[in-house]
Amino acid sequence: MEKIKETGQFLALKLKKNPKIGIILGSGLGGLVKHLNIEEEIPYHTIPNFPVSTVKGHRGSLIFGKMNGVDIIVCSGRFHFYEGYTMQEVTFPIQVMKELGVNKLILSNAAGGMNPTFKIGDIMLIRDHINLFSGNPLLGPNDDTLGPRFLDMSEAYSKKMLKIAYQCAKELNIHVQTGVYVGVTGPCFETPAEYRMFAILGGDAVGMSTVPETIIARHRGIEVFGLSVITDLGIVGQVEKVSHEEVLQAAQIAEPKMVQLVYEMLPKL
Ligand code: HPA
Repeated sequence: MEKIKETGQFLALKLKKNPKIGIILGSGLGGLVKHLNIEEEIPYHTIPNFPVSTVKGHRGSLIFGKMNGVDIIVCSGRFHFYEGYTMQEVTFPIQVMKELGVNKLILSNAAGGMNPTFKIGDIMLIRDHINLFSGNPLLGPNDDTLGPRFLDMSEAYSKKMLKIAYQCAKELNIHVQTGVYVGVTGPCFETPAEYRMFAILGGDAVGMSTVPETIIARHRGIEVFGLSVITDLGIVGQVEKVSHEEVLQAAQIAEPKMVQLVYEMLPKL
């Protein structure tokens, strides 16, 4: 808690504004910042208590700016559990955003699609998630000043924000899918049997992030909207070899659609 407050105060001193909307950019989706009027960019390694990102395709800075007239905070580069960070480190940026006044969060990620109607490059709006991480960022003593011990998750992803996303997608003529995101630790991609199991469990896409961040955001009373870019397919009978490079490439190809959608949504949130 002290670290969260300390980092919040450090950043608050650097900023002239208090954005209400935060965005976390997923693997291969860092290009959104090109469409942002950047007011301040603060590399993670210069922020006290901030973890430092290690994955290719992640820039590793906190960016403040305006997009479509709206002040936002963007995390360009996220911390994954598979890198060896604790759940507290993975979710630290969310805690800090809350200190700065964020009350709405947009989480993006690259994910493998299990739903047989999905195609590579599709955008899936996250309706719900299944936590298959071997952990939860709320394990351990609860700080009741931050949020409740037993967190309600009946609406982890804001229906209101989802509705706005649908409307914007329709206006922009962007085809979107909707579904359940299964969060796993990685770093292996799934075996065909695992993809099949996740589909049987009710998952539409699988990825290695987002779930811990959503849990902490909800704990702190932040509304969450999540979207997955489908970068590879784990459909029964169609599972092909996949690499991180291919995931990044597929994400980059689909990225303009995601940027357009987020751009359009921001003033309506
Ligand atoms: N599985 C897990 N994580 C992923 C995948 C996948 O197929 N694609 C992108 N991230």
